[in-house]
Amino acid sequence: MAKVPPSSPAAKNSLHDHRPGAGSTALESAIGDGGELHQNASDKGAQGASFLTDNFGHRIADNQNSLRAGERGPTLLEDFVLREKIFHFDHERIPERIVHARGSGAHGTFECTRAIPELTKADIFQETGKTCPVFVRFSTVAGGAGSVDTPRDVRGFAVKFYTEAGNWDLVGNNIPVFFIQDAIKFPDLVHSVKMEADRGYPQAASAHDTFWDFISLMPEAMHMIMWAMSDRTIPRSFRMIEGFGVHTFRFVNAKGEGRFVKFHWKPVLGIQSTTWDEAVKIAGADPDFHRRDLFEAIDAGDFPAWDLGVQVFDEAFAAKQPYDVLDATKLIPEEDIPVEIVGRMTLNRNVDNFFAETEQAAFLPSNIIPGVDFSNDPLLQGRLFSYLDTQKSRLGTTNFHQIPINAPKCPFHNFQRDGMMQTLVPTGRANYEPNSLAEAAREWRAARERCYGLHDLRSQRRAQRSGCEAARPRRTVRRSFQPGADVLPLADRK
Ligand code: HEM
Repeated sequence: MAKVPPSSPAAKNSLHDHRPGAGSTALESAIGDGGELHQNASDKGAQGASFLTDNFGHRIADNQNSLRAGERGPTLLEDFVLREKIFHFDHERIPERIVHARGSGAHGTFECTRAIPELTKADIFQETGKTCPVFVRFSTVAGGAGSVDTPRDVRGFAVKFYTEAGNWDLVGNNIPVFFIQDAIKFPDLVHSVKMEADRGYPQAASAHDTFWDFISLMPEAMHMIMWAMSDRTIPRSFRMIEGFGVHTFRFVNAKGEGRFVKFHWKPVLGIQSTTWDEAVKIAGADPDFHRRDLFEAIDAGDFPAWDLGVQVFDEAFAAKQPYDVLDATKLIPEEDIPVEIVGRMTLNRNVDNFFAETEQAAFLPSNIIPGVDFSNDPLLQGRLFSYLDTQKSRLGTTNFHQIPINAPKCPFHNFQRDGMMQTLVPTGRANYEPNSLAEAAREWRAARERCYGLHDLRSQRRAQRSGCEAARPRRTVRRSFQPGADVLPLADRK
């Protein structure tokens, strides 16, 4: 391969000459034996690596020019570097969320500031000072993924706690009540609030004709509408919104005693809103206002924080209320049941990659941990299957729990197998349960070691000694993994 003389037609044609700063980059043009143009991938282009490869590890000599039959082509179909690059690009998009499509995420930590073992056996509330990693995604509801940040709309406030007892997803909003009482009305509600079916607008705005039409026929929505048309739906910043679990959940303590609970997030910066005039001006001047605000605050070390509060009450209190505490259009007045602060969440790390983390995050109201339970709220009950269903299609595989942002950080293990995009390699002969094979015990050990960062093996052992639920296989599973010393591998018999 010869270097291209600066005056050659190939060099003149090359992208190299048209790039800003051309000549000072590490790109080097060359003519191949067939007269074709090459540019060697630069150090810079390879993000610090000395060369690029394709997805199967083959070194790419030229990331700038397709392979051509002679200097002027045509382009050769056999150029697998070109094909792979274009094919991958062609498939970069996945369906956006059916609601809450536009969002911004960040990592952080939750710390229990007041242990409440008398109320719940939930792992993270057992000790004051106990922490766990979290991932949070704030969102608007109605607009598409590319819409503006400051329309009049409810804001989503979804938190994934990576606890030692598995993931707990508290998938809430910034308003304590909801529009409807029964999940069966949700598709109609969303159709009416999103862009109108025939004209495809308005994007990202709740106050429009089809929404008003639906709401006028839905008397239970009046409470939520008062909130939705208040300043709360034009917030100043994600850092300054409250969050609510909305539904009534249950806390269960180690004695098996249950109580009702409502969850609240209180922003340490307080609640702040814009005026409508400000909100529409911001939408024009900076459609990414909230996303930028969150990212830049965290980047500058100005970490936003929220206190987690709980309103806990029993069935006797519930029975005395003039409304059903399982009705998501109602709230429990704080004068009756004060909000008790039990923890603080601080967001302290931006995502490294928006798509891999924020976009692929899948929050599931059905993700709870021992000590937190569902109630019979019919809206919550509908959500329990809707999210898993939609995420299987949005993320394209039943294995979306393996995507790092969704995977638990405690060990996990079961006999669910195969499916599209299986990225784990389950070992062992037994892929069923119950079983009594020695291989299965080995498989369990391997699974225990395969964890995403919360435990190292030593802390797992410590946790096991102290009786940590998450560090042990569930009882039903363990019975069949270790039915007797005679089926355990030798190493385990000592
Ligand atoms: C029956 C009622 C509801 C149904 C069927 C429903 C359904 C959905 C669906 C399908 C998604 C998209 C999930 C995804 O693609 O990952 C979603 C997102 C979301 N929903 Fe609901 N929803 C309901 C009620 C609610 C309520 C009452 C709240 C608040 C308490 C809420 C908060 C959210 C949030 C915050 C997200 C975005 C999560 C994220 O950031 O990824 N939803 N919902």
